[in-house]
Parts: sequence; structure tokens; C-alpha cells
Amino acid sequence: MKIFLDSADVEAIRRANDTGLLDGVTTNPSHIFKTGAKFSDVVKEICSVVSGPVSAEVMAEDSEGMVREAEQVSQIAANVYIKIPMTVEGLKAVPVLEAKGIHTNVTMVFSSTQAYLAMKAGATFVSIVLSRLDAIANESEILVDDAVLIKRNYGFSTQVLAASMKTQNHVLAALRAGADISTMPEALFFQLYRHLLTDAGLEQFSRDWAKVPK
Ligand code: E4P
Repeated sequence: MKIFLDSADVEAIRRANDTGLLDGVTTNPSHIFKTGAKFSDVVKEICSVVSGPVSAEVMAEDSEGMVREAEQVSQIAANVYIKIPMTVEGLKAVPVLEAKGIHTNVTMVFSSTQAYLAMKAGATFVSIVLSRLDAIANESEILVDDAVLIKRNYGFSTQVLAASMKTQNHVLAALRAGADISTMPEALFFQLYRHLLTDAGLEQFSRDWAKVPK
């Protein structure tokens, strides 16, 4: 499973990228807002740090507007992928953009049938949103299982991107289901390295090593 960082914080992205285990980045308008910087500048800088896909969202509500906006945003860098909202208009824009060689990431997907429609439209990624769904119904595991099952049953090439991860259980659910990608905040990414017993064991080895005659 690929790991993306869900952030527009360039320093956080740099830290995660330095590990060698980061495959890409997803942003959203709220992440961009938190930076206080211009959208195109932030996206450009992220794309200079990360060589994998960097998702940036278009805000038009009609398909023609989305296509126009996506064409401009995709000029920022070769690794920009366009986040498209899960709406009728959004899924009209997806095949148009994919035909132009612009990769799409359908976002704000909360049901298995929405995931199916995004795959049928030919999106490169479908972002299924786990923690926001768990906040109203504990169904994120079913959603990620279903999305992977639908993809396999019908041979869709869309990659299932498990998004809005807040806990290691979300990451495990994505791994067990066979999701293609997980996107997560920096804190959760670095938490994946940690275990209390790892820390305790390494501290003990270090204490004992200090007492070994050298
Ligand atoms: C992922 O690509 C999106 O940014 C995400 O679904 C939104 O995540 P949040 O629920 O953590 O804001």
C-alpha cells in the first residue's frame, strides 16, 4: 500500500519525504487555507519536494468550470492530480480530464455506491473518507472493504485511496482490505513507526551496552 501525506504543510511533507517511505501528497482547500499562502505557490512548492502524485482540488461546481480550472492547475507541475468532488458534475468532468491525460482523484466519497460511480467514470483515484464517516456511523471498515471488492469484481483500474485517517486502526483496515493508498496526517505517519515495547527494548539494550567493557 502506498502512503500519502494529507497536508499542505511543506515542512511536514519534507520530513515525511525524508523517510524514503512517502509516495505522494493529498491537499484540500482547508489544508491550503491553513498555510496562509497562495494556492498555486503552495502546490508548486509541494510538487518540488515530492516526486509522486500531489492532489490539488478544483472548486468550480459545473463540469465545464472544473475542466477549465483543472487544465490551469495541472500546469503547475507534471505530478499534479486533480481532486474532483463526488457530484454529478464532478463525474462528468472526470472522463474529459482523463482523456486529456489529466489524472483525477474523486473526493468526499462516503458510500460504496459513490465509490462505484467514481470508478465507472474512470477516475485514477477514489478517495474514501474514513474518519468523517466514523463520526456519524462506525462504517469505515465496511466502506474500504466494499471499495476494494467492487474494484476487483469489475476489474476497475481506479486506485482505492483510503483518506481522512486518524488512527492506526484506520491504517490497519485499509491494509486488511487491500486499499491501494492511504493518506494520513504527519503525526499518524510517524506514529506507525512507534511501539512502547520497541522503545523499552531499545532503551534496555542501550543501558546494557553502556556497561559492556570496550
Ligand atoms: C483527503 O484527501 C482529504 O483531504 C480528506 O478526505 C479530508 O480529510 P479530513 O477528514 O482529515 O479533513
